[in-house]
Amino acid sequence: MLTNLRESWQIRHVEIPTRMVLAPMAGVSVQAFRRQGRRFGAGLVCSEMVSCAGIEHRNEKTLGYLRVAADEHPLAIQIFGSDPPLMAEAARMVDAAGADLVDINFGCPVRKVTKTGAGATLLDDADRAARIVEAVASATDLPVSVKMRRGLRDGSRTCLEVGPQLVRAGAATLTLHPRSAQQMYTGEADHSLTAELVSLVDVPVIASGDITSRAKAQAVLATTGAAAVMVGRSAQGNPWALREIVDGDDRQPSREEVVAELVLFIRETVRELGERRASGFLKKFYGWYLGRGRFPKPFKQELVMLGSTEEVERLLIAAAPGALPLLERLEDELPVAGEVLLDELPISLYGGG
Ligand SMILES: Cc1cc2nc3c(=O)[nH]c(=O)nc-3n(C[C@H](O)[C@H](O)[C@H](O)COP(=O)(O)O)c2cc1C
Repeated sequence: MLTNLRESWQIRHVEIPTRMVLAPMAGVSVQAFRRQGRRFGAGLVCSEMVSCAGIEHRNEKTLGYLRVAADEHPLAIQIFGSDPPLMAEAARMVDAAGADLVDINFGCPVRKVTKTGAGATLLDDADRAARIVEAVASATDLPVSVKMRRGLRDGSRTCLEVGPQLVRAGAATLTLHPRSAQQMYTGEADHSLTAELVSLVDVPVIASGDITSRAKAQAVLATTGAAAVMVGRSAQGNPWALREIVDGDDRQPSREEVVAELVLFIRETVRELGERRASGFLKKFYGWYLGRGRFPKPFKQELVMLGSTEEVERLLIAAAPGALPLLERLEDELPVAGEVLLDELPISLYGGG
């Protein structure tokens, strides 16, 4: 049976308007990415993982991840760490920042994170994982979600033991990316595990991994009973993939549309990160947007060599002048930057200024 991806569903009291969730991705999921994801049909968007230690130390860059824009709700902010009281403190900050859900990362396979006892390692320490969920759930009234992998090693089925424990500890939803940490991003996500997990818990499950098309989304929803699919890599530089998945609208964007979206993305990211950080951060996006046969390869290489985002913007517009009216329309439709709630964060978030 086909699922209507435009159907709303709920995580506790939080209404999610579509059955497609935009994945949290470190180094990708900035505000511009999340707001774009919402415009293209994602019902829920997520921040990249935020270190609870960084929050505790009031690290300025970390606190920047807690900025919430007016038009990105519902939004989950994801935290990672291994110490229950620190995770509880981080959850309070996430709540104060205006997020709709607190998401806990039990899936990160990267050594820098796992060696601190956080991320996917916690799948092998179910008691600690449950204590973290309990601490976070009692620190906030927001629904708590947990994102995990299948386990640490290839073939692992740990998620099926840990998942129900985390629900008993207070998780209101689980997202499963059914690859092992060892696999990183190789091989395939085995969604037969997602189906098993759905049968074991009475909270909605979100299926993450290899959702690359509407057909794949429909197949995974039908065979697993998951409440929603999560889309990650397919949406990098390609919000049109989200539109295809949620609405079946498979029109390819014109060059003008690609340039308009990319320039908007650049402007918003510069506003969020500042020119210096943004210009390095954005380089990978040029390839993602301009690839897929949309522009010749040397053009992308030329952009990457430029020193400022202003120069990048000029070259992009020169390559597709028809993008300008599209860009103006996009900017007119967006809420003004002043609506971003950053200035309203409690002063304590910045350590009293
Ligand atoms: C560059 C990158 C960064 C990621 N960062 C995070 C993260 O911060 N937190 C998290 O839970 N998952 C993270 N993931 C995993 C994704 O959320 C998702 O589960 C995974 O990519 C599988 O989905 P996909 O096949 O749709 O990409 C990341 C993935 C990628 C590719």
